Formats: sequence, C-alpha cells, structure tokens
Amino acid sequence: MLEVSRIHTYYGTSHILFDVSLAVNQGEIVCLLGRNGAGKTTTMRSIMGLTRPKSGSVKFKGEEVRGQPPYHIARKGIGYVPDNRLVFPDLTVLENLEIAKKVPRNFGGEPWTIERIYRLFPILQERQNQYGGTLSGGEQQMLTVARTLMGNPELLLMDEPVEGVAPLVVKELGRQILKLKQMGQTILFSEQNVAFATMISDRAYVMDRGRIRYQGNREEFIENEEIKKKFLMV
Ligand SMILES: Nc1ncnc2c1ncn2[C@@H]1O[C@H](COP(=O)(O)OP(=O)(O)OP(=O)(O)O)[C@@H](O)[C@H]1O
Ligand SMILES: [Mg+2]
Repeated sequence: MLEVSRIHTYYGTSHILFDVSLAVNQGEIVCLLGRNGAGKTTTMRSIMGLTRPKSGSVKFKGEEVRGQPPYHIARKGIGYVPDNRLVFPDLTVLENLEIAKKVPRNFGGEPWTIERIYRLFPILQERQNQYGGTLSGGEQQMLTVARTLMGNPELLLMDEPVEGVAPLVVKELGRQILKLKQMGQTILFSEQNVAFATMISDRAYVMDRGRIRYQGNREEFIENEEIKKKFLMV
C-alpha cells in the first residue's frame, strides 16, 4: 500500500534522511523505531508531504505522491496523527468528532461514524460533553486518533502515539490499535518504546541518525538483542 524508496530529506541545508526505504502492506501494522532525533517524525512528514523529500519516491497504492501538497496526499487516503495532540480545547468531545467528519470516500471499507468511534473508545462517549482541553493526555490522544479515523483513512500514520501517556492507558491504546488491525486498518506508527512496539506490530524498522539500520518481522526483532542495544534504549 505504501512504498517509500530511497528518500533524502533536508531541513534547509541540513541533510536529515539518507536513502530511507520502507514499505507497508495492506492490513499490516508496521513500527518505525528509533531514539530521539533518529528521524521518525521527519519520515512521517516526508510521507505526508509536510517536508518534501529532495529525491527518491513515495508511492501510495502504486501512485507517486512525492511532491504533492499534504492535503492532496491526505485526500488520497492517508490519515496522519502528529506527535502533538490535535484537539480543539474549547469544543466538547462530541463537537471535536463532528467537525472531523468527512464526506465518505469510496475506499472499500465501512465508513466511520461517531457510534463506531464510541464502540472503539468507550471513554470518549463517557466524556462526550466534556471540553477537549480538560481531557487527560491519554484521552486527548484517543480523541486525536478518533478525529483522524473520521476521515476514513486507508493508511493511518501515527507519530509516537503513546508518548507521555500513563502505563495503563498505553495498554488500552495498544488493545484499541489491535482492534483497528482486526477491522483491516493498515497502520504505520513511530515509537521509542520497544515493549509497546513489539506488542502490536507485525514488522519493525529501526532508524538511527536518518538511516534505516534494521528491518525484520516481529519474532526476528524480539530476538535481536544486538539491534535493540545498539540503536534503542533497552
Ligand atoms: N525543523 C527542523 N529544522 C532543522 N532540523 C530539524 C528540524 N526538525 C528536526 N530536525 C532535526 O532532524 C533530526 C531528526 O529529527 P526528527 O524530529 O525527525 O526525529 P525523531 O526521531 O522524530 O525524534 P523524537 O523521538 O525526539 O521525536 C534531528 O537531528 C533534529 O534535530
Ligand atoms: Mg518525533
């Protein structure tokens, strides 16, 4: 579904991503692991067109999207949950969800409704009349994911979805992400937390200093102590 090939991305004159290639197949949950500053967010931004790669290719469903504006890429079916939580603090949970509603695209899946969102995130229903700004960090993160789902993305990108979230909520988010997978949702997410990543992903890539240093399936990654020691904090 997503094929990133040999991209190089810069911020001004600083060369940040070097020859980054990765792929996500339909129905997979793929994790991009790396320490602070490894290039995870820059990779996500490169896919979305928020920071355009200078060279290489980003193909979504076989179509080249590198160089296209972010709204264009989003409309093709990629939903992006950035690393900062995007809720409207002065709107209630329900209002936050309602304004995220999109005209349903023909994407082959069951379109998201507020009822379906509440089934996946029961806490959001309990809090539906509460202002976004008064939610806990974990609840805000769920609301951010929920708002992105309302756009019916075929590919969901999440940048460090559990960063700064309490351990119990991390577990809950993990279960919710696995439920999304069961519904057929394709997901690429970035993470520093190896335990969380291995709990939910089918495959993992490890980045360091702007380069992909490792890729492997879940079992291979779990067994590879050397990679974890070298490039991750474990
Ligand atoms: N706007 C920017 N201008 C210049 N350099 C930047 C900019 N944003 C990020 N960088 C640099 O690019 C490199 C990769 O950063 P990036 O944010 O992609 O890493 P990350 O893996 O997401 O890290 P974190 O885990 O801290 O979120 C870092 O060295 C960072 O300092
Ligand atoms: Mg980041």
